[in-house]
Order: sequence, then structure tokens, then C-alpha cells
Amino acid sequence: SSSEDEGEEYLFKIVIIGDSAVGKSNLLSRYARNEFNMHSKATIGVEFQTQSLEFDGKEVKAQIWDTAGQERFRAVTSAYYRGAFGALVVYDISRRSTFDSIPRWLDELKTHSDTTVARMLVGNKCDLESIREVSMEECKSLAESEGLFFMETSALDSTNVKKAFELVIQEIY
Ligand code: GTP
Ligand code: MG
Repeated sequence: SSSEDEGEEYLFKIVIIGDSAVGKSNLLSRYARNEFNMHSKATIGVEFQTQSLEFDGKEVKAQIWDTAGQERFRAVTSAYYRGAFGALVVYDISRRSTFDSIPRWLDELKTHSDTTVARMLVGNKCDLESIREVSMEECKSLAESEGLFFMETSALDSTNVKKAFELVIQEIY
């Protein structure tokens, strides 16, 4: 069929959400381009990257959307979530306030998504162990009570970045 010819048979949209400066854009750039920016600027509007993977010998494309954590820089919320099959819900393990915001992000996701979404709770910046404010146990307990996958990552040193994205993609697939 023409959709196969265009390679669009397995194209999945994934969104990344979470407070400003938790590292959403760096998780995406680390995953898609193996790049990290110590001085990245706050995202304005929406950016996305398409990443190809192979599962069971079939090509799967993930279109990964990244938006601003800051309300005033955000794109139209409903359009951002529309058609998403997966979500990375990100906080920063060194800033408790970003973990406290997670229920609000989950509510927003639930309100605006039009289908069942594979959700991964991501505690980013796990390289900052010495200034950790959120324990792994708290992360696990929230994830279990909400029925989420969970993982700690570091966009800086690459820990679990590929794994986090690919688990979500695999779950959708
Ligand atoms: P908004 O676009 O404003 O929503 O922020 P964001 O969530 O996209 O954060 P961004 O990726 O821009 O990262 C914010 C800051 O955190 C930058 O200075 C990054 O270099 C830093 N950062 C991102 N990931 C990590 C990480 O895993 N470890 C450490 N130590 N710093 C990180
Ligand atoms: Mg950003």
C-alpha cells in the first residue's frame, strides 16, 4: 500500500512533558543525536525529532515532541497531546518541586489525550546524586500507584536515556 511505501505504517507520536529545566530537550537531543548542551535555553513552542528503530525486523518511527515546561512558552496544549501514544513525564531528582508537579502533568495528559498512552515516569539528572532531593523509593511508589513505568536517567552521562525512550516505544508497538 502507499502507506507502506512511505514507511508510515508504524509511526508513533511520543510527547515529553514536565517542569521547565528538568532536561526534556537534552533527553531528546541525547537520544536522537547523542548531543548534550550544558547551557541550553528554555524551549519556546514545540520541537520534534523523528527517530527510526527496528522491532522484529520491522521499521518503527517515533516522532518525539518536546515543548516548554514554562506555561508562557507553551504551544496549544490540546494539539500537543493529540494523537500521542506514549509520554515521558520528567522531573529532576535534584529539585523536589519538579517531582511535586508530576500529578499535575499526569492530569493534563489524561485530560488531553485521546487514547491509551504508554507512560514513563523519568527522574532525570541522576548524575546529581550528591544533591538528590527525591529518592528512588518515592519515584517507584508514585509510579506503582499511577500504573507507570519508571526510570532514572541522565542526559548528561547518557544513563538509561535510550532505554527510557525505547521501553515506551516498545510498549506502544
Ligand atoms: P524547558 O524547555 O524550559 O521546559 O526545559 P527543559 O526541560 O527542556 O530542560 P533542558 O533540557 O533545557 O535542560 C535544562 C538544564 O539542565 C540545562 O542547563 C541542561 O544542561 C541541564 N541538564 C539537562 N539534563 C541534565 C542531566 O541529566 N544532568 C545534569 N547535571 N544536567 C542536566
Ligand atoms: Mg526544553
